[in-house]
Amino acid sequence: MTAVTGNPAPDDPAPDVAAGDVAAGDVAPGGAAAGDVLVDVRGVKVHFPIKRGVIFDKTVGYVYAVDGVDLQIRRGETYGLVGESGCGKSTLGRAILNLEPPTDGSVEFDGVDIASLHGEELRRKRQDIQMVFQDPMGSLDPRQSVESLLIEGMRAHGLAKDEKQAAKRLRQLLDAVGLPAAALKKYPHEFSGGQRQRIGIARALSVEPKLIVADEPVSALDVSVQAQVINLLEQLQDEFGLTYLVVAHDLAVVRHISDRIGVMYLGALAEEAEADDLYAQPLHPYTRALMSAVPVPDPVVEDRRERIILTGDLPSPANPPTGCRFHTRCPWRQETRCDTERPALRTVSMAGVPDSHRVACHWAEQIASGELRPHEVLPTVTEQGSLGDVDEDLMGPASVTEAM
Ligand SMILES: Nc1ncnc2c1ncn2[C@@H]1O[C@H](COP(=O)(O)OP(=O)(O)OP(=O)(O)O)[C@@H](O)[C@H]1O
Ligand code: SF4
Ligand SMILES: [Mg+2]
Repeated sequence: MTAVTGNPAPDDPAPDVAAGDVAAGDVAPGGAAAGDVLVDVRGVKVHFPIKRGVIFDKTVGYVYAVDGVDLQIRRGETYGLVGESGCGKSTLGRAILNLEPPTDGSVEFDGVDIASLHGEELRRKRQDIQMVFQDPMGSLDPRQSVESLLIEGMRAHGLAKDEKQAAKRLRQLLDAVGLPAAALKKYPHEFSGGQRQRIGIARALSVEPKLIVADEPVSALDVSVQAQVINLLEQLQDEFGLTYLVVAHDLAVVRHISDRIGVMYLGALAEEAEADDLYAQPLHPYTRALMSAVPVPDPVVEDRRERIILTGDLPSPANPPTGCRFHTRCPWRQETRCDTERPALRTVSMAGVPDSHRVACHWAEQIASGELRPHEVLPTVTEQGSLGDVDEDLMGPASVTEAM
């Protein structure tokens, strides 16, 4: 099929420049040369003020939803972002689109600082970044037919200049997502969940994006349909040379689709690696715990599988633990450093672990070698910390979820 987009074909990548050939500073932490990087997130923080007071809107604290994230997404790759509910995945996705302007840090898309764009320039740049949501029913206007839903963006961005061109592009889009031409005259409620997600994907594709941020794209679907939608996303990536950021709380979802995976915990990355490396040797205790929850089909391996049960809920992002954010739940927590020193996302000096594999744990080497053993985790009471000596009555909800 003719590609609907003008993006470079996947078999025509940007020139592969060896890291040593580019100037210092032009190399992304993950090892990619600057030209290969489509999205460059540096030190991004998104802090939501917690306001209280009837007459005066007094800021009594902050929800540290995203609190210092560095990540680079290379052209044509799928970056999977995983973590528990409330760890800041969606907020980070929205910050990349500047729908949630970062409190600090920067996001460069295709070499341009998103925050420097306004009005028409920002609108045009946003065309390059589209979102696919968890609940297509919530993101598709039920009063609009599929035709009208798909043609809206095309018209807004001058991609459907006349009727003939529009009709051709609509046919191509439906064909690409595996829906019949008859779907055009129907409305979202007339489709199944999986089909609605296909419409959501077609809608994102309609404006020829370079990046698709898919936020929990299959979590609302039946397991059998999940695989179909994941396969469709993979197929479209090859066809249109797309780059993906796939956000999910389930490691099993990102495992099959991702080239690289970032594991997020309380607003920051705990670990980042090529997907195969992460599965072969998870280095962060949190990743090991997530991994240990995924059953293995082989009964022998399943019997011997390490099981780490995390005790306690995710602490509130309005009052994150000091030092390592994971220390309140970590079975390897040590008396030194863990409670006081926030670990940076770093490479490790271990045989067989490439530089692309980074982990935010002070003791990653000693944990991997078995020198440090896991121990029982006792429930920890987190101190007031960030909210300091604010009057208890003035304290706001720890999160929007809590407020609801
Ligand atoms: N507009 C907002 N104002 C205040 N707090 C917010 C806002 N949006 C999100 N939050 C809070 O920021 C934290 C991170 O939220 P976010 O939605 O990014 O998490 P998530 O990882 O996507 O979770 P989920 O898996 O449930 O979708 C949560 O505590 C959430 O309640
Ligand atoms: S730094 Fe300490 S608390 Fe944090 S993950 Fe490593 S061992 Fe656990
Ligand atoms: Mg979310």
